[in-house]
Amino acid sequence: MKKIIFAIFLCSTLLLASSKDNTIEQKIDSLLTLMTLDEKIGQLTQYSGNYETGPSAGTVKNEFQKLVKEGKVGSFLNVHGATNTHEMQKIAVEQSRLKIPLLFGYDVIHGYRTTFPIPLAEASSWDPQAVEKSARISAIEAAAAGVHWTFAPMVDIARDPRWGRIAEGSGEDPYLGSAMAAARVKGFQGNSYGEKGTILSCAKHFAAYGGAEGGRDYNTVDMSERTLREIYLLPYKAAVDAGAATIMSSFNEIAGVPSTGSKFLLTDVLRKEWHFDGFVVSDWTSIPEMHTHGVAANDAESAMLALNAGTDMDMEGGVYRKHLPQLLKEGKVSEQTLNEAVRRILRVKLRLGLFADPYRNASPEAEKKDIYNAAHIAATRDVARKSIVLLKNEKDILPLKKEIKTLAVVGPLANNTEEPLGPWHQQGRPSDVVTVLDGITKTVSSDTKILFAKGCDIVGNDTKGFDEAVSIAKKSDVVIVVVGEAAEMSGEAASRSSLTLPGKQEKFVEAIQATGTPVVVVLMNGRPLAVTWIAEHVSAIVEAWFLGVQSGNAIADVLFGEYTPSGKLPVTFPRTVGQVPYYYNYKNTGRPMDEKQKYNSKYIDISNTPLFPFGYGLSYTTFEYSSPRLSASKITKKESLKVVVDVKNIGRRAGEEVVQLYIRDEYGSVTRPVKELKGFQKIALVPGEKKSVEFTLTPELLSMYDINMKWGVEAGTFKVYVGTNSVDVQEASFEVSEL
Ligand code: NOJ
Repeated sequence: MKKIIFAIFLCSTLLLASSKDNTIEQKIDSLLTLMTLDEKIGQLTQYSGNYETGPSAGTVKNEFQKLVKEGKVGSFLNVHGATNTHEMQKIAVEQSRLKIPLLFGYDVIHGYRTTFPIPLAEASSWDPQAVEKSARISAIEAAAAGVHWTFAPMVDIARDPRWGRIAEGSGEDPYLGSAMAAARVKGFQGNSYGEKGTILSCAKHFAAYGGAEGGRDYNTVDMSERTLREIYLLPYKAAVDAGAATIMSSFNEIAGVPSTGSKFLLTDVLRKEWHFDGFVVSDWTSIPEMHTHGVAANDAESAMLALNAGTDMDMEGGVYRKHLPQLLKEGKVSEQTLNEAVRRILRVKLRLGLFADPYRNASPEAEKKDIYNAAHIAATRDVARKSIVLLKNEKDILPLKKEIKTLAVVGPLANNTEEPLGPWHQQGRPSDVVTVLDGITKTVSSDTKILFAKGCDIVGNDTKGFDEAVSIAKKSDVVIVVVGEAAEMSGEAASRSSLTLPGKQEKFVEAIQATGTPVVVVLMNGRPLAVTWIAEHVSAIVEAWFLGVQSGNAIADVLFGEYTPSGKLPVTFPRTVGQVPYYYNYKNTGRPMDEKQKYNSKYIDISNTPLFPFGYGLSYTTFEYSSPRLSASKITKKESLKVVVDVKNIGRRAGEEVVQLYIRDEYGSVTRPVKELKGFQKIALVPGEKKSVEFTLTPELLSMYDINMKWGVEAGTFKVYVGTNSVDVQEASFEVSEL
């Protein structure tokens, strides 16, 4: 009976959805018959309406308003705030001929006003629910301010930490990256289009933008289709499967074809294989940049290539507006292609419910209530502490006692209110930031004496402040040294050729360490840093990334044991920049690294292991793993396998552990990575408690692209590894047979 009721429910839901879809398509059909060429191209046109500041503010605004009235623009980015968006929208829906509402986009990457940890930090939580919640809160705030659409999640895999945009994504692994991509899409968009407090998501930058040669932003990407599909494309696919409304094409070329003009990516893979039916927006001027890439002789050719490939909306390029009329006349772009692009954009606007409610409940009152409220601040503190990774804790120096007599807090980031906001802080304000010094001051006992000295700047060669910091370090029982990068050293156009601490900071840590007072280093940074000297000499290291407005409270929670750290690295930390690109799921080669022999794949001048491996992170308690138990030693290609492991908290504190499952397909028609993450679960255990964690390895998870680029499972032996990070694992093996 239950089954029948469920079937009826499912059928009626599907029918409802498809009748809603039909209504939307009919509405688009009728709009298309009414629209002039200018109005159609207008829907494909997006400008940055950042007219709030600058000498030409008024003029720019007037020009934009005129365009809106004429139906010559369909979307703005960087127009936000209920008052600003209302003003523009009112013109669109009251004064333009067809009253088609505008779509307002904004880069809500890690928060609107309540600034959350950077995405790389949140990925360190390995907690998709927490990440979904962070995206949801960002959506609520942005929606109250009239924003409809965020240019997030950024789901680019990054295997090279020189690339500054590694900060905006979820690291190096496609499985973890996919989980985070789906969580963020769900967080931004909710369960259905148009739900209150949601905004549209935009998975970017399609595709493989993170594969830039040398980690230099915007640089050439060249990789095999196998690597593209098995590593780089998976998180975009996960975002599409989770319902991402839009996709942004990337700046880079892949094997000679700029993504913005790639029919293979935008039509064959995205629309035909993945059945994506939202729209594609270019990245900022990435359409005209195809001329600079050297595949289009002029802007008109760029526009032709982009539209024909499947780029629907021109972000800030202005070339669709300028050249599509002529291209249509010449038959270089067909009316049908144009209509299809318009259809996709209108479809998303209709799905969002913009025609019915163009203002979507945004208002100054909603802004007051929904933006930067107490609940949001508490939530960002919670995600922030989950994002912290404990990298080293010799002799259990951490957690510190709150009753410490004298505590020195030093370093250029110890009392800094700007940098913890990270590279995309948008409406986040330095005045909202709780610094490490503030957080610690609120946490320690009232008898504790806190001494502060900045010591040095983040960059530059000035060491004049060293002496003061050293002298207070000498007088203290413990020193907390907060060092790292400036926020602007990661994010867009912020590639670095070195991975060491900038400026004189390492020398500064050396000077403090030399005092003999126990040292805890707290790192704030947007990428893995090669902090090799620190890792070898300092007793405790806390990786805090850029944690947003609640940085200091979250860090203090961890330093003083209010929260037991549970984060794990979503990316490998190299010992030196010379090792990059460096990632855990590498191929074995015919001569795997062996430092005792000569003729094999290694560097002769360093230790050939990572400084900290993928998946690594310590706790204040200890977890003991059993060996993995498999449900069978042999399965067929169509069967799944269960893997069970017991994990026990054998320490003295409650804590959370991220249990990780990796596989290795030992022999294939093509070589396979030495390890591939295929599952993880975050569990909480009180002292003495033991839990069994079960994973299911489905045929999909065991699949690969074979020598003929066919997706599927190959028969043969597989290894299974389970453990606390990608290196410390226990293994078992099983066989997959043809039948
Ligand atoms: C360029 C960046 O690459 C992209 O990520 C961002 O969304 C757009 N600018 C809009 O600001």
